[in-house]
Amino acid sequence: MTAKQHNVKGIILAGGTGSRLFPLTKVTNKHLLPVGNKPMIFHPVEKLIEIGIKNILIVTGVEHMGDVVQLLGSGKDFGCQFTYKVQDEAGGIAQALSLAEHFVGGERSIVILGDNVFADSLQTSFDAFLKQEKGARLLLKEVPDPQRFGVPTLDGKQITKVTEKPSDPDSNYAVTGIYMYDGQVFDFVNQCSPSERGEMEITDVNNFYIEKGQCEYDMFKDWWTDAGTFESLRHANALLAMS
Ligand code: G1P
Repeated sequence: MTAKQHNVKGIILAGGTGSRLFPLTKVTNKHLLPVGNKPMIFHPVEKLIEIGIKNILIVTGVEHMGDVVQLLGSGKDFGCQFTYKVQDEAGGIAQALSLAEHFVGGERSIVILGDNVFADSLQTSFDAFLKQEKGARLLLKEVPDPQRFGVPTLDGKQITKVTEKPSDPDSNYAVTGIYMYDGQVFDFVNQCSPSERGEMEITDVNNFYIEKGQCEYDMFKDWWTDAGTFESLRHANALLAMS
């Protein structure tokens, strides 16, 4: 089955303050910074287009929305259609996702964090997701510093829970910022409350699916990184230079 038949929507979350990259982000949005030979946000856009997602919502803050729209436009140049939504304040990933409810309209969606850069195509995982009757599908990657991420506790082919930035991680894997969800996601998003860092955590949303026994996962085979810190931004550039 194709994305078109399923009307799967793409969502790129490109808000936040970019505080970990200050002063690079003093006058611009993190997702507009160069990664390889293009702005960071081009990477997730191209990954969605590659698997046939044509309807893409971009969520970003009000300060840089003008620049984001100027960069991406209507989508005509990419062969897709962009919709834009303003996130008034940086309240976490789940809060940003809540803004997509109307756009998604009860269908399935693929959410990508705008600072995630990776080599693999999403096709295999996406095909598996389309065959799932319901639930969520996550992508994991082994990392040297799991404390920086949402970390899954694994029991064979099952994820039994995800812990956000654990000091003593249960595994060496990161839950990457690529999430495939069915229409239930907004019920879960609306049940979230702010975490200790004052954010609505996407990890809480994933744990709702896990508790219902409706969360599958795949492993990225090739490289994956975020690009939201100086070190990971440098790493992303180095990986792209080699590939
Ligand atoms: C976010 C998520 C985390 C995930 C990571 C992937 O972290 O909260 O679970 O592993 O993205 O990039 P943040 O970038 O907000 O620290």
